[in-house]
Amino acid sequence: MSSDKIQIETRLDLPDLGSGHDLRRILSSALKSHTALQPAGESLLQAFWPAAHFNLDRVAVYRDAPEEERELILKECSCDTLEEAYYIEKCGIYFASKMCLLSESVQERMLYSLFGADETVHFSWISRYVSTEAAADFIHNPFIELLDDLLRDQDKITLTYVIQVILEGWGISHYRALSKDCNDAGLVEVFDHIIKDEARHHSSGLVLFNERRLSHDQIESLVEVLSRLFLMVRVGPQSIVSKVERVRGHLSRAQKIKIFQEMECEQETAGKLQTLKSLIRSAGYAEPIFDALDRAGAFKPFSAAECAAVSV
Ligand SMILES: [Fe+2]
Ligand SMILES: [Fe+2]
Repeated sequence: MSSDKIQIETRLDLPDLGSGHDLRRILSSALKSHTALQPAGESLLQAFWPAAHFNLDRVAVYRDAPEEERELILKECSCDTLEEAYYIEKCGIYFASKMCLLSESVQERMLYSLFGADETVHFSWISRYVSTEAAADFIHNPFIELLDDLLRDQDKITLTYVIQVILEGWGISHYRALSKDCNDAGLVEVFDHIIKDEARHHSSGLVLFNERRLSHDQIESLVEVLSRLFLMVRVGPQSIVSKVERVRGHLSRAQKIKIFQEMECEQETAGKLQTLKSLIRSAGYAEPIFDALDRAGAFKPFSAAECAAVSV
């Protein structure tokens, strides 16, 4: 029996218990014993970030839209942002449980159990700002589907590297940007708490990864997974453009190219890829991983025309 791999479905679509179920009361009391922070999260469909956060302030077709359409685009972009966080935190609970079972020392197992509790608290906070019914479709988001596959299928060392070193490291800067621009004090507090926990999750991943010896095949496998992940970044802000199109009506290829150009997608994406490059450089095996990704073109942002070509 393999000790570095467990295959079990992630079941990100597990059903919620009914609102009056007795387990909910016990869960709520358990959550309260883990955190004093109880964000209100009353308003679900709200524009929590300004146009500038999504670079929409640079886009003419957005600026020229009637006020209610601009408001709707911002609300939908906010929804997407929170639904993505909702699934990421949900994945975090599964990840910590799996890593707890795969642990190779008592302290490692203790740490992953505590991280599981952190992720559960994160998920409970974010859930207050997300409608479970509305979020159901986000399970088909390509990034969440990829994450789901990785969590289910990959071995321990790949998960440590990809999830903790790269994605939780990336999560710190992502949540920092969300906190900086967010206009809701409760949500800002949530992000600031999450950032502190994610820093711990990330740094333990670095310790665990850096003490391992990797074979050539294992490095190749990491590179293959990262190439798939980085492609999601390289294609630019697709979901924002799709929200503009949904609200404003059909956009031609030329209009989409113009929007991606106005959003300066290439420079923006290059900045994000820079963060990913520095995460690779901060961990072991940086050189072979970096060089293989570079050779495969995995650090190359799509041009505005390429972004528009893959936009659906
Ligand atoms: Fe988390
Ligand atoms: Fe985490």
